Amino acid sequence: MFKYLGNITDLSHYIIENFVVDKNIAVDETLGNGGDCDFLSESFKKVYAFDIQSVAIEEYKKKNKDNVKLICDSHENIEKHITEEIDVAIYNLGFLPGGDKSITTEAESTLKSIKETLKILKNGGFAILSVYIGHNEGLRESEQILKYASSLPKDKYGVMIHKVINRSERAPYLLVIEKK
Ligand SMILES: C[S@@+](CC[C@H](N)C(=O)[O-])C[C@H]1O[C@@H](n2cnc3c(N)ncnc32)[C@H](O)[C@@H]1O
Repeated sequence: MFKYLGNITDLSHYIIENFVVDKNIAVDETLGNGGDCDFLSESFKKVYAFDIQSVAIEEYKKKNKDNVKLICDSHENIEKHITEEIDVAIYNLGFLPGGDKSITTEAESTLKSIKETLKILKNGGFAILSVYIGHNEGLRESEQILKYASSLPKDKYGVMIHKVINRSERAPYLLVIEKK
């Protein structure tokens, strides 16, 4: 069992726990089965959670979490739903585990969402993405995300990748964007 290199989701939670100073408002951009949302709702005062699949939203509703606002819409429309500044945004890209694999995050909408999210991200805030490149849409999405993220101005954003390099070339990776 690895302590640090085990799993990129745990690593994303570790970064949020330890480096996000103000734990007021978080956004789960891809609710899915709700693992990230559970984590965020324990630490943050308010969590917005997006998913395009009503099955994911309805399932999470059953948890009755007072501090979670569920939004059944694409995260590319984030500006329609959130008008306040946020401290963190988390993305777990790809398809719903155990669900319909044909419904997956897509390059264009993910990119638009990242751009809109960075506009409302507070200085000192983080956007953290788990990117899965084992499937073809994921690979296309990854290429576009990396192109955009590497062009972000370095006086305003730090951008870092965490990727295991001695496994498959198509192993998932974590992309961390920190706003100064
Ligand atoms: C890998 S799963 C998320 C896993 C989740 N964070 C968890 O902890 O279980 C990806 C989710 O993103 C959702 N999704 C796909 N496209 C989306 C979009 N444009 N906006 C919001 N959610 C989307 C899918 O329906 C799926 O539930």
